Amino acid sequence: MDAPSLRTKRLVLLPLGSADLDEAAALFADPRVMVHIDGGARGRSITSRLLQANERCWKTEGWGLWAIRDATSGAFIGQSGLQRIPELQDADVEFSMVIGRRNWRLGIATEAANAILYDARGRFSGNQIHALVHPDSAAGGPFLRRIGFRRDDDQFVRGETLEVWHTQRLG
Ligand SMILES: CC(C)(COP(=O)(O)OP(=O)(O)OC[C@H]1O[C@@H](n2cnc3c(N)ncnc32)[C@H](O)[C@@H]1OP(=O)(O)O)[C@@H](O)C(=O)NCCC(=O)NCCS
Repeated sequence: MDAPSLRTKRLVLLPLGSADLDEAAALFADPRVMVHIDGGARGRSITSRLLQANERCWKTEGWGLWAIRDATSGAFIGQSGLQRIPELQDADVEFSMVIGRRNWRLGIATEAANAILYDARGRFSGNQIHALVHPDSAAGGPFLRRIGFRRDDDQFVRGETLEVWHTQRLG
């Protein structure tokens, strides 16, 4: 089967995998981005394991994280999509979005999220999708609200108190 792909006006999305390691590692090594995720930068070996786990997720579940690229140049812009979230109470799947700083505030995350969540209707059979936001992220909450998520009670997850958001499965 061909790898799935999504296309929007400015973006092309393909399942994130080991071939994206250099670019994903650079994104996750930027402390000014990662402070919004879990407080610190992520090393190359952790990123490599995440990409391998994501490849397995695409194979077994039929959904996962996407690499977000510029549709014209192919440049890596960020990553987003779904992954299992065993640590969160009453939740199954987490939606996340990370965009490299040079592309913030251009509407890229909104454009990618709309395509990913619309596509997820055909791939993911659960009822709810959750998202976590670090308390240091000024953008995360407003972004999630803009794409249709609603805030729940905060939870202590991965060693800290995080904002928990959810959206009903669209459609
Ligand atoms: C959150 C993030 C994905 C937004 O990406 P982006 O491409 O800049 O977002 P968009 O340009 O599509 O903006 C969408 C909305 O997000 C909110 N937003 C984005 N940046 C913001 C900021 N710095 N402060 C407050 N709100 C912000 C706004 O509501 C914005 O809508 P508006 O432009 O109509 O005001 C990006 O800042 C990022 O990768 N941050 C680090 C990771 C993270 O916090 N992810 C969120 C948890 S899933």
